[in-house]
Amino acid sequence: MSEGRPLELSGAAFEALVAKVAAACARAIEALPAQHAAGCVGAQGVAEALAVRWPIAETPMEGGIDAVLARLERAFAASLATAGPGYLAYVPGGGLPAAAVADLLAGVMNRYAGLSEAAPGPCALEDDVVRFLARAVGYGPESGGVLLSGGSLANFSALVAAREAVLGAGADLRAATIYTTSEAHHSVVKSARLAGIPPAHVRRVATDERLRMDPGDLARAVAADRAAGRVPFCVVTSAGTTNTGAIDPLGDVADVAAREGLWHHVDGAYGGAFVLCAQGRARLAGIERADSVTLDPHKGLFLPYGTGCLLVRDRETLLRAFSMGASYLQDFDAAAEAIPSPGHLGPELSRPFRGLRLWLAFALHGAAAFRSALSEKLTLARRLADGLRDLADRGVPVELADEPQLSVVPFRLARRPDQTLARANAENAAFLRAITARGRVFLSSTMLPGPDGPIYTLRACVLSFRTHADRIDALCEDVAAAARAVGRA
Ligand SMILES: Cc1ncc(COP(=O)(O)O)c(C=O)c1O
Repeated sequence: MSEGRPLELSGAAFEALVAKVAAACARAIEALPAQHAAGCVGAQGVAEALAVRWPIAETPMEGGIDAVLARLERAFAASLATAGPGYLAYVPGGGLPAAAVADLLAGVMNRYAGLSEAAPGPCALEDDVVRFLARAVGYGPESGGVLLSGGSLANFSALVAAREAVLGAGADLRAATIYTTSEAHHSVVKSARLAGIPPAHVRRVATDERLRMDPGDLARAVAADRAAGRVPFCVVTSAGTTNTGAIDPLGDVADVAAREGLWHHVDGAYGGAFVLCAQGRARLAGIERADSVTLDPHKGLFLPYGTGCLLVRDRETLLRAFSMGASYLQDFDAAAEAIPSPGHLGPELSRPFRGLRLWLAFALHGAAAFRSALSEKLTLARRLADGLRDLADRGVPVELADEPQLSVVPFRLARRPDQTLARANAENAAFLRAITARGRVFLSSTMLPGPDGPIYTLRACVLSFRTHADRIDALCEDVAAAARAVGRA
């Protein structure tokens, strides 16, 4: 540390600091397999959270980095164990250590990655990543994209681009109407609201028995809205819904969108990354016909939280929606305009050098490692579905709500003939708690449509790069034990 300038770490002091942090990270990585799969939230987590608070003081924390790391260990423990191999709740990702190293580098170098004029080198590497993802989706050389903070921002930016492309700048939005299903992620409705679309004009298109959009109903809804004076302009499909991993019929919807002049946005925040493996690519056929696609690398490409991606078939559509200039930027050399500027392709200006997280991970591991990890997740979901069916054959009354369309497996205890829906739902909630209590896997639940009301359904989402067959087999054992614990086996 320089005397009298504590914010300016010397090279040696920085190295010593990072060595301690690296050792703590290494211990945390080694501890992941044996930790409780759920982590610590709820009342216990809040109590621990209150105990680790440290009101910001004028002087440094006593004990320096050792004290800081000890306190942080407790703070991290008071949270869901999202990095662990048993985390199968919501939508996992795991958090690649290579990407964390990229964050360290990007933070220390702190280059201005909003405009390529200010950082042509970093922006070029970020463009390498965007081009790779656009090619994987099936887009051609006119395509483009931008890395954002997550799927929500990508969906929002897509709707803004759609609005500008189809309705034009400054259009009257009072009649503007978009189409999706009730299975779409709630960020789609939020994005529509942020983009100025009246909430009542977010139409819920009917779904089939596997919760996929019905393109016939979409066409009928568009016709009815036009007849009523509304202005249909966009349809949002899901390439893997959060609830069950359902894939809307992307090609059939693309046909309707082309006929009706609608922008077709595919929300692939959960499932879009499966285009990287052959099995997944086949299931997502038609995605390449969409006008825009959300991918969420902090899910399907295993990055730590904070990286989403919006891809568009025609890069000009993003530039039209987001590019702006200002007199205080006039000094930049226009030569770098050949390299895309994230600041002109999305809502942010100053932003982290996000692309390094993926670029460095691809550079260290190769794209093949990602393809094979994604393929493994699809195989594991199949293994889980087969394992649950085996349990059912052996008398454990567990049923699949659907076959896995990607890597989500929705299942529940079958309802007894004499059981009310409310009792069946309460029993399934107890079943979930009994699985979690065993500590090896952590699942979440949702409500799926049923003949007499929403049915409580457990869901295992296999997406962490750290989850392998041993965890899936442990889950099957724990399902059987939990069924016994709630008196059903
Ligand atoms: C299908 C889908 N879309 C969008 C999102 C929102 O993504 P984010 O949480 O990165 O904003 C999610 C999050 O789980 C999702 O599953």
